[in-house]
Amino acid sequence: MTSTRIVELKQQCGNSVTLRGWLHGKRTSGKIAFLIVRDGTGICQCIVEASHPEPFAIAESLTQESSIELTGTVREDARSPGGVEIDISALTLVHRAEDYPISRKSHGVDFLMNHRHLWLRAPRQTAILRIRHTLIKAARGYFDDAGFTLIDTPILSPGAAEGAGTLFPVDYFGEEVYLAQTGQLYLESACMALEKVYCFGPTFRAEKSKTRRHLTEFWMIEPEIAYADLDTLKHHAEGLTLRMIGDTLTHHRDDLATLGRDVSALEKVTVPFASLTYSEAVDLLHSAQTRDWIEQDLAALETRRAEIDAALAVTGEELAAATKAWKKEKLEQTLRELKETRDELAIDLEHRRTHQQDVLSFSWGKDFGGDEETILSRQFDTPLFVTGYPREVKAFYMKRDDTDPRLVVNMDMLAPEGYGEVIGGSIREERLEVLQERMNEEKMDSAPYEWYLDLRRYGSIPHGGFGLGIERTVAWICGLKHVRETIPFPRLLGRMYP
Ligand code: 4AD
Ligand code: MG
Repeated sequence: MTSTRIVELKQQCGNSVTLRGWLHGKRTSGKIAFLIVRDGTGICQCIVEASHPEPFAIAESLTQESSIELTGTVREDARSPGGVEIDISALTLVHRAEDYPISRKSHGVDFLMNHRHLWLRAPRQTAILRIRHTLIKAARGYFDDAGFTLIDTPILSPGAAEGAGTLFPVDYFGEEVYLAQTGQLYLESACMALEKVYCFGPTFRAEKSKTRRHLTEFWMIEPEIAYADLDTLKHHAEGLTLRMIGDTLTHHRDDLATLGRDVSALEKVTVPFASLTYSEAVDLLHSAQTRDWIEQDLAALETRRAEIDAALAVTGEELAAATKAWKKEKLEQTLRELKETRDELAIDLEHRRTHQQDVLSFSWGKDFGGDEETILSRQFDTPLFVTGYPREVKAFYMKRDDTDPRLVVNMDMLAPEGYGEVIGGSIREERLEVLQERMNEEKMDSAPYEWYLDLRRYGSIPHGGFGLGIERTVAWICGLKHVRETIPFPRLLGRMYP
């Protein structure tokens, strides 16, 4: 028998359909059972009345996450989650789930991460996974449509590309090799063959930082373009970003609503994106505007905290007055969520109070950290390009700026709303001697890079590219606080299970 998916139910009103899914939740009274059923596409309320004794008995006995197959008539119901309900006529139990570890009550992050293999079934998580899928598809679509050729670069590599400090060594038949930190160097080679190329794959960094932006394994899409200058890179970064946002807004309004994402912030993203040089960005950090902004930000957080406290009080009163069990359950859930939000807010406030002031005295020459990026990117509605960083804080392959040799010709793109760097890129040093000089400065052994230097020996050209981190982009577009929810099975410092 063919089955229907929940997302298709709207077109089936009045028809009898068969659904295959899992029991997400249920409410029963002596006469009627409300089953909240989910499949891979959504959630639907299904109803069985006691007048159908066989399915009713099964419905009453179902445990959370039991797998089921049901047949019933689709009926329009504006109050229901997907706008429809199903009146069940037949119900089959496929597998009765054991006591499911993830209940409706709130769990700590560690608990959820240890149950990531089950947590993926939660509506928030499926919404994120669907948006991730669309973002990747949009990114590939953008480069495919712009005439780029996909190049798969190796995961095992003989040397570092983004600094020796974050390499994961692998024993390769007795020889030490490393997991790829980027596909870029190989992409540069392919760029000399095909002019416009991109790679998309997993990359690895042994980052000892436990932040909301760092994974040890993440996915990056990287274009590399012959004869590119910074404007070319900006043009593609803008086009790529708009395509990713546009496709998400077109296809995922419901998922964004599930996540509670304020879509107006995404709709405000238009070209051209804001752009500052590194030195201008440092000046902005030191400015009265930033000082005011920090004050306003703290005041806004205080207001938000007061609002949540007020909401907590009201919900508490409502709960005390509630008599119906389902109403109580709902209010208790709201209360838990509000408390969680208040706790997070308190941590945020504390962090900002202690660290935001440091930003005002940031010294020229350092790399921006999370706090600087957050403060810079929150002052613009569009992503912000920052160009021309000091060469000391950037990778060896970046082109030296001949107008100011302290700098490189590079570009980072910081996402708005405080999300920070999502793109890092540059024009590459195409002059053999300048590149060798820089590698010597960095005390790099040139042997593993001879092939890379060859690209500067045989028809060297100006070229450049960038890398966009998928997880940070998912976090931004979905409005998530931490990258751990942006990838199905996150690899973080101190986390390898499941
Ligand atoms: O700035 P990064 O290190 O640039 C490169 O790897 C270049 N080779 C790219 C290129 O020019 N082809 O990293 C690029 C992006 C960052 O902006 C960020 O979005 C993401 O990759 N990224 C990380 N994401 C999660 N966890 C980490 N530890 C990340 N490190 C970088
Ligand atoms: Mg970077």
